[in-house]
This record gives sequence, C-alpha cells and structure tokens, in this order.
Amino acid sequence: MNPALLGSAWVTGGAEALAGFVLTGGFSSAVLMARFDYLSDAELAAILTYVRDAFGAQAGAVSVEDVARARAQFPATPAGAAN
Ligand code: HEM
Repeated sequence: MNPALLGSAWVTGGAEALAGFVLTGGFSSAVLMARFDYLSDAELAAILTYVRDAFGAQAGAVSVEDVARARAQFPATPAGAAN
C-alpha cells in the first residue's frame, strides 16, 4: 500500500481521526483511497486496532466508541458511492 502506514501520523495519532480517514477514504475526493463506511463499527475497530498494533508503535487500541463517534461526524453515503 502506498503511502506507507508505518510511521504515518494518521496511524499514530488520534483513534477517532484514523477512524474518520478510513470511513471516508481520506476526508476528501482529493485523496484517492477507497472509503470503508460499509464496515460496522466493530469491524473497523478490530481492523484499526490491528493496524495500530502492527504499524503504530503502541499507539493503542481503537474502540467501537471511537469509530461510532467518528462515523457520527460524517453524513451517510449511498452504498457503492464513489469516494
Ligand atoms: C482498512 C484498511 C486500510 C487502512 C487502515 C488504510 C489506512 C490509510 C491511511 C492511514 C492512509 C494515510 C497514510 C498517510 O498519508 O500517512 C492511507 C492512504 C491511502 N490508502 Fe489506505 N487504508 C486501508 C485500505 C486501503 C485500500 C484497500 C486501498 C486501495 C485499494 C488504499 C489506498 C490508499 C491510497 C491510494 C492512499 C493515499 C491517498 C492519497 O494520499 O491520495 N487503502 N490509507
């Protein structure tokens, strides 16, 4: 994956900000990542906890509540919508 997750400030920073990045695919259509808002809060919390464990140098777990708070900040998008 490009850019690297290892050492990324998104991975080592706030849990809610990382959840927001992955939910929205980078917050803006200028960022060319797929959005993952079709996954449940529990699925995203598990994935992001793994990512922070593997690439985030003890950045700490991401909770279901972190993902739910991040999700509440973004309007729902129709299933299958482009980034
Ligand atoms: C759930 C798994 C994923 C996580 C946790 C994740 C996380 C991230 C993060 C944190 C960044 C920002 C890195 C930085 O700039 O420091 C990023 C960027 C990016 N990701 Fe992902 N990603 C995931 C899956 C994917 C997949 C499946 C793709 C491609 C199909 C993808 C494509 C990209 C691209 C192209 C960027 C760079 C976007 C840009 O700067 O324009 N990601 N990802």
